[in-house]
Amino acid sequence: MRKPFIAGNWKMYKTAEQAKAFAEEFRKLYKPSDVRVAIAAPFTQLWALKEAFAGSGIAVAAQNMHWADEGAYTGEVSAAMLREIGVDYCVIGHSERRQYFAETDETVNKKVLKALEAGILPILCCGESLQTRDAGEQNAFVEAQIRADFAGVSPEDAKKVTVAYEPIWAIGTGRTASPQQAQDMCAYIREVLADIYGEDISEEITIQYGGSVKPANASELMDQPDIDGALVGGASLKPADFIEIVHF
Ligand code: 13P
Repeated sequence: MRKPFIAGNWKMYKTAEQAKAFAEEFRKLYKPSDVRVAIAAPFTQLWALKEAFAGSGIAVAAQNMHWADEGAYTGEVSAAMLREIGVDYCVIGHSERRQYFAETDETVNKKVLKALEAGILPILCCGESLQTRDAGEQNAFVEAQIRADFAGVSPEDAKKVTVAYEPIWAIGTGRTASPQQAQDMCAYIREVLADIYGEDISEEITIQYGGSVKPANASELMDQPDIDGALVGGASLKPADFIEIVHF
């Protein structure tokens, strides 16, 4: 049985002081349950968050990493560096990184493989633009991303990957995909994973929906059979909003 998994993605918001204040308030509101919870924060806040969430069961995620073990890559952070401070997950291939920082399926795939090798659980993002959806090509587009991003990932490791389906047209726009649109794509992603790894493994892979998830729409999205969780941007910045989603 797949456990629900709600992750917040703070993007480039919050200083370490603000992160600590969030964690303090959030811990007071948080009731541990079967739902996995993580916060993806900027690099400089990860250490403070690990400390602030110690013993709470709330996991900490990075928003990016490099695929090399080490090297002359100014400005980059390795998987081992993240693992050393106890980072549990890493968001990989977010559309903002693909759009603004030239991430390709090739670099995303290298990062997924390295994260798994280092013991960091990838939250692998995929999703189509509005133009692609309007052309009716969203399934083919997302399928190509999934096939490329999972290349060389073993069946055992595939189970450790969380796929986050985030249609670009729904990110930060207030325009959520309808529960049916989100379900249809998450089911299609599971079909593609079944084609690669077989049904038993695809049934174990967690698939999140992301894009304008709010307290008001979280539970109907989570009711969908192939949606196992949410990757939440804006609504993860306030403890009171994020806790409502976590307690959907
Ligand atoms: P919003 O929830 O702000 O639309 O962002 C979604 C997202 O990109 C999460 O990674």
